[in-house]
Amino acid sequence: MDALCDPALDALGGADAILVFTGAGISTGSGIPDFRGPNGLWKRIDPDDFALERHLDDPAFRRSTWHRHLRSPFLGAVPNPGHHAVTRLVTSGRALGVVTQNVDGLHRAAGLEPELLVEIHGDASRVACVSCGAREPIDDVAARWEAGEEDPACLRCGGIMKPDVVFFGEALPREATIRAWAMADRADAVLVVGSSLSVYPAASIPLEIAGRGDPMVVVNRGPTDHDPLATVHLDGDASDLLPRLVDALVTTGS
Ligand code: APR
Repeated sequence: MDALCDPALDALGGADAILVFTGAGISTGSGIPDFRGPNGLWKRIDPDDFALERHLDDPAFRRSTWHRHLRSPFLGAVPNPGHHAVTRLVTSGRALGVVTQNVDGLHRAAGLEPELLVEIHGDASRVACVSCGAREPIDDVAARWEAGEEDPACLRCGGIMKPDVVFFGEALPREATIRAWAMADRADAVLVVGSSLSVYPAASIPLEIAGRGDPMVVVNRGPTDHDPLATVHLDGDASDLLPRLVDALVTTGS
């Protein structure tokens, strides 16, 4: 038995409907920076660069958005042992599914069934028209951008397009929000992985589960904004800790 995981095993022992809530910290092991950690993106980029209003109002800003998005070195990222451990936990039947704040698609790439995954902040592999809602794969728009269209417009209505991720000032996708809360209602515990729990309304989901007295286990390097609510906090690298915790949960069935 892995003594480090024992407290988390005790906390999750009786749970068989765990909601797994993930943030940017589960993907740093795949080379994608988080936002608020020591080398976080918000230490280098102004969050206002992800404001919906600027994208809609300023064509020069839109061109820079497309350049940043389509030239992102993270487009080739692959899942790490943390993502695969989450898939294993869901496949084992101990976890209901995953609500992720990440838009990198790595839970799907790790084999998680789409119907068991809620991408509450959207999906960077798609683009969306802000006028008619049409969606296209990012690869199609990237080809147009590479061919010289610096601000690709919607092919259906000519409207402005944006990566299909939630910008600051934008509401969460309605269908994803409904699915996430339905999963939270059915959960009997929540496992938080790699999130500072500092952004709402997404963070309300694990906090609702913990607030009604169900166990909340946090696997996170460093503190979160709500550690006092955590039953257990395993402080360290999710790519290392999560496979060990899931091995113990799945093999012992405790
Ligand atoms: N293992 C465990 N924890 C890690 C690891 C790792 N390998 N790498 C980083 N962390 C921790 C960081 O220390 C930090 O506490 O993960 C947490 C990530 O927190 P944030 O950077 O705030 O990311 P997240 O919680 O997902 O942010 C939520 O904020 O800016 C918005 O839309 C953005 O979805 C994002 C939302």
